[in-house]
Amino acid sequence: MAKDKIILALDVDSETKAVGLVRSLKDEVGAFKVGLELFNSTGPDIFGRLRQAGAERVFYDCKFHDIPNTVAGASRAAARMGIWMFNVHTSGGSDMMKAAAEAARQTATQLGVRPPLVIGVTVLTSIDETILREELVVCSDVRSQVAHLALLAKNSSLDGVVASPHEIGAIRDACGSGFLIVTPGVRPAGAAIGDQKRVMTPGEAIRHGADYIVVGRAITASDDPVAAARAIGEEIETVSGEQ
Ligand code: C5P
Repeated sequence: MAKDKIILALDVDSETKAVGLVRSLKDEVGAFKVGLELFNSTGPDIFGRLRQAGAERVFYDCKFHDIPNTVAGASRAAARMGIWMFNVHTSGGSDMMKAAAEAARQTATQLGVRPPLVIGVTVLTSIDETILREELVVCSDVRSQVAHLALLAKNSSLDGVVASPHEIGAIRDACGSGFLIVTPGVRPAGAAIGDQKRVMTPGEAIRHGADYIVVGRAITASDDPVAAARAIGEEIETVSGEQ
């Protein structure tokens, strides 16, 4: 279903606000994203509370990045929290990514639950060509670096990557179909862009090959969040019907 492709970013600082969003939008979106602000405001109990409020799928946007042993431990703990998806930084290297995926899958198997999807963050969208070259001393343009890290993630048995909608084509060329692409930076036509720079509409992102889109303020800051989410679902449905 079209709505299953929408992941709503719960970028709030309290359980009350997050639970309120889940209650009002659980029938309009497929999943909810818990980022570092919400997690560090509430602690891990947030996952159970969101489930009680009706969130069936939760993406824990934890962006783990540490030595393989530490990330494996954190991934085991994440898998025990019953989440649907979590992420790690691909720049942690292949051993770290393999350790995360293996730890999460083993823990889920031991618990008899479906393993969480493990996806990789490639190059943060806040990093531009100048930062990449001059601060990080990476001699590659952003698109090539994203495609390179996405392939590294695929070969390290991750399920997919998070990327800007503008990088979807390069990732598909490098990794083929079946490798998940989750894209933030999505804005319905006419919605405020805010601090996002290189945006696409939900329909464009799906047409370019995104599997899931992450949407925050375009829904949560709208006068009518339910109507805003429905409109995005309808736009995705129209595009999916064309494909
Ligand atoms: O409100 P908005 O739709 O811009 O929210 C987008 C969400 O996606 C936020 O939670 C943000 O942290 C996240 N995100 C992003 N760009 C990335 C990775 C994650 O905007 N490259």
